[in-house]
Amino acid sequence: MQEDRFGFKGRRVLIIGGGQGMGEATARLLASLGADLALLDIEVARAERVKSDVEKLGVRAHAVQADVTDETSLVEAMATVERTFGPVDGLVTIIGMAAWSPLVETTTEIWDNDHNRNLRYVFVACREFARSLIARGRPGSLVTIASVDGLRSAQNHGSYGAAKAGLVNLVRTMSQEWAPHGIRANCVAPGGVVTPRIPLGDPAREAAGMANVPMKRRGTTDEIANPVAFLLSDMATYITGQTLAVDGGYMAAGGFSTKLPAPQGKTIGVES
Ligand SMILES: NC(=O)c1ccc[n+]([C@@H]2O[C@H](COP(=O)([O-])OP(=O)(O)OC[C@H]3O[C@@H](n4cnc5c(N)ncnc54)[C@H](O)[C@@H]3O)[C@@H](O)[C@H]2O)c1
Repeated sequence: MQEDRFGFKGRRVLIIGGGQGMGEATARLLASLGADLALLDIEVARAERVKSDVEKLGVRAHAVQADVTDETSLVEAMATVERTFGPVDGLVTIIGMAAWSPLVETTTEIWDNDHNRNLRYVFVACREFARSLIARGRPGSLVTIASVDGLRSAQNHGSYGAAKAGLVNLVRTMSQEWAPHGIRANCVAPGGVVTPRIPLGDPAREAAGMANVPMKRRGTTDEIANPVAFLLSDMATYITGQTLAVDGGYMAAGGFSTKLPAPQGKTIGVES
């Protein structure tokens, strides 16, 4: 029997967006595998709740507030984590949101907003993470969450899809530039996932949305946390620069998107 094959015991991981949804599921899993956790969230009460839950598993945890769309706020929060909790060996970036907007209706504000909250902050967080590791001469691993919208066309989510496609390329470049420093960078691209923000809806609409998904259902947050933990861990020490679609077979089937009408009451530019 080999213990701690994931290598998380005694390691510190920062989860950006760790207070809810896939971030919360990832936090619970990593804590169960022995990782100490820093949880960053704009809604710090969410991070505090997850922190007190995971501490019951015997790991250390730390909650910190920041708005990732504000570079100063994000960089200062990461510096606070390093100073008060300790330098981290692992980074998971969870946060991302899509505006519902056909391209001809997409203003540059919508475009910039989608890029800020899906791509720009991930670059900033990964850069700060790598700078810290390189300065300390330590290896590390990071995982970011993209989307199948970044792997194929993304009708009505064009700015989001372009930002998520940017993540797929960003992990490739990070993998090349940072391999000499022992830093791995990978990406998980979920298909449809049931989350607190996007709960199960009207069954007919759910079924229509799953028409091109071989497994005919959306995934769970645990089904995203599992591959995130794997890629972050010592079970994946020879994997870097990769994007893993976690999508019930959707991309393998061709990734044909189902054109659903806009959700009722949907306004251009509003998150969906
Ligand atoms: N749900 C899906 O079907 C689906 C599909 C593909 C990809 N994704 C991607 O999955 C990821 C996670 O989605 P989720 O629904 O689990 O997360 P979520 O939207 O619930 O966000 C996680 C946490 O991030 C926090 N947060 C939001 N904006 C923030 C900000 N500006 N600064 C700091 N914290 C902030 C929230 O308070 C929340 O607790 C996203 O990147 C999303 O694009 C989701």
